[in-house]
Amino acid sequence: MAEETVKITVRPNGPLRVEGAIHLVDADGQEWDLTGKPAVSLCRCGASEKRPFCDGAHNRVGFQCMTSPGNLT
Ligand code: FES
Repeated sequence: MAEETVKITVRPNGPLRVEGAIHLVDADGQEWDLTGKPAVSLCRCGASEKRPFCDGAHNRVGFQCMTSPGNLT
């Protein structure tokens, strides 16, 4: 796999937005077909019915998680 830059944005109270050359695989190494998708949003609330992708359920369940590099302890 070529070394390419991937940008991951932690959305406030929401998913991880991943942009770049993405190879998303499950624990067995099977890869999701992301052809034509320059970015994906990955669920981090656990409530999505389309995991690992965000389906907006974080709003419905009231997921709360605000984080930034400044509040690591
Ligand atoms: S983060 Fe959006 S559904 Fe989980």
